[in-house]
Amino acid sequence: MITDRQLKEKWFKFFEEHGFKKIEGFSIIPENDPTVLFTTAGMHPLVPYLLGEKHPAGNKIYDVQRCIRTSDIDSVGDGSHLTFFEMLGNWTLGACDKTEMIKLSFEFLTSPKYLGLDKDNLAVTVFAGNDVAPRDEEAYKAWKECGIKEIFFTSEDNWWALGGGVGPCGPDSEMFYDTGKEKCGENCSPSCDCGKYLEIWNDVFMQYVVKNSGEKAQLLQRPNIDTGMGLERTVAILNGAKSVYDSGCLKRVIDFINDNANVKYNDSESSVRAYRIITDHLRSSTFILGDARGVVPSNVGQGYILRRFIRRAINCARNIGFDSQLFAGIVDLYVDEYGQDYSDINSNRQFIKEEMLKEVAKFSKALDEGHKEFDKVINGIEKHKAFASKSGEVVENIIGGKAAFRLYDTFGFPLELTEELAKERGYQVDKQGFDQMFKEHQEKSRQATAGMFKGGLADTSKQSAYLHTATHLLLAGLQKMFGKDVVQKGSNITPERLRFDFNLDHKMTAEELKEVEDFVNNAIERKLPVTCEVMKIEEARASGAHGTFTNKYGEEVKVYTIGDVSKEICGGPHAENTEQLHHFKIVKEESSSSGIRRIKAILD
Ligand code: SER
Repeated sequence: MITDRQLKEKWFKFFEEHGFKKIEGFSIIPENDPTVLFTTAGMHPLVPYLLGEKHPAGNKIYDVQRCIRTSDIDSVGDGSHLTFFEMLGNWTLGACDKTEMIKLSFEFLTSPKYLGLDKDNLAVTVFAGNDVAPRDEEAYKAWKECGIKEIFFTSEDNWWALGGGVGPCGPDSEMFYDTGKEKCGENCSPSCDCGKYLEIWNDVFMQYVVKNSGEKAQLLQRPNIDTGMGLERTVAILNGAKSVYDSGCLKRVIDFINDNANVKYNDSESSVRAYRIITDHLRSSTFILGDARGVVPSNVGQGYILRRFIRRAINCARNIGFDSQLFAGIVDLYVDEYGQDYSDINSNRQFIKEEMLKEVAKFSKALDEGHKEFDKVINGIEKHKAFASKSGEVVENIIGGKAAFRLYDTFGFPLELTEELAKERGYQVDKQGFDQMFKEHQEKSRQATAGMFKGGLADTSKQSAYLHTATHLLLAGLQKMFGKDVVQKGSNITPERLRFDFNLDHKMTAEELKEVEDFVNNAIERKLPVTCEVMKIEEARASGAHGTFTNKYGEEVKVYTIGDVSKEICGGPHAENTEQLHHFKIVKEESSSSGIRRIKAILD
């Protein structure tokens, strides 16, 4: 049996031996990135470096990154898909030697000193070529030389780009474990999801960049290699397990549910699915609630996804006769497992449990009523159908937008939950109708969420960089006025505006707002240079730089200095000079949560 930790250690040792340097993983909630709700891959927070910025740790780095991918939510319940997973990553910045990387990947997978997998159980895919780039002969040759027999070519599945299609991208080569299952048909390949081939690792050769949406990919001046291995899946295959839930902490959670639920894990296909959904969704929820940024269930952004995870888990718990109050016990299992590596969730153990149980209390009451309402809706349609069939009229199995919205608004059913229940009954939901109702009923700000789901690249456009610089000036202004105890509690930047959360015990007066605005505009008018230095965290601390200091001792960080006004530890990017910001204007000051104020501001 190999544990998650042992696999991590092997990864660290292997890449350390090959001259890579370890960096810390990032938060699960991206900062200053308007386009995605969660960190979806290890490369995600590294975009500025993949686009050419110098990384303080050098050009060969590795890490372990906690990731959430909501795109896989509907597949959760099978043996391999998870919304939360840990990704083992490594990067070669500014160089792209495919043959070398493929040979390293092969060595790690097959060497008895590392994973010791039989090469005949491995299959790989290679880029087949498209109108941007030719077939990847070099990757093919390298795998052949390694002795891999099952090599498949695709063009679509072997082109890696971020969700929005903008940013660094390129051909990739994916590694699969052949589970030995019968082929599902003549054309069975890693591209089908029959379960024969399980993807465990992906080497992306980032040789291209799409600068703006809709534009064609251009050659990246300094290409990179970005690789990511799925920790849970790899542990599962190394343990000869049938699913990712059969070992380690996920298994302990399944066992805990099994000990306390009326319906047992293996009773039926649907009970297996329900157990796995609870197990997966509560792990994601533990990590979101445990993040220092303090996300709680709500109807927008990350809070909405969190709510969706918890409510879906509550619904599954209801189906297997498992008391949702015991979710707190599951949180404990997760915090015990991960608290050592992720100190946030350790220090927030109590908060996670409290917030989760608050959501349980909120939704459990409405759930039974909502189920009754749902049945009523279906019965109504069925009756209508029976009646209509006499006159030859066809009534489709569709739940109207209005009914779906009522379930959402009155009973707290996330649309996706209604869709899932509908599917079980052979129904669909009129999503457009729901959206229409939603639009009519929700205030404008809630709509922001919809755009964010599309996903995409961290917006590294100039405007975002300028707003980022304005955020530093704003914090400096607030600290000058209210003292150094005022710190950043959250930040979110879109190309249009900045949003900044900070601790303060009162609503800011008009005079105070004017004063802080003037402070920022004064810094802009003084045309201050923005400079960046790389230094050790302890030097940064000694120099008086602000930051949350979650970095480890000895780690190198970037410190951005704006003239004599601000000094902060930060990843960038920023303006070069404050004059680029033109003029700063606060458009809103409001409460964000208890003791936390929120400022929205623009540059005009
Ligand atoms: N970015 C690639 C992926 O997500 C490799 O890390 O698969």
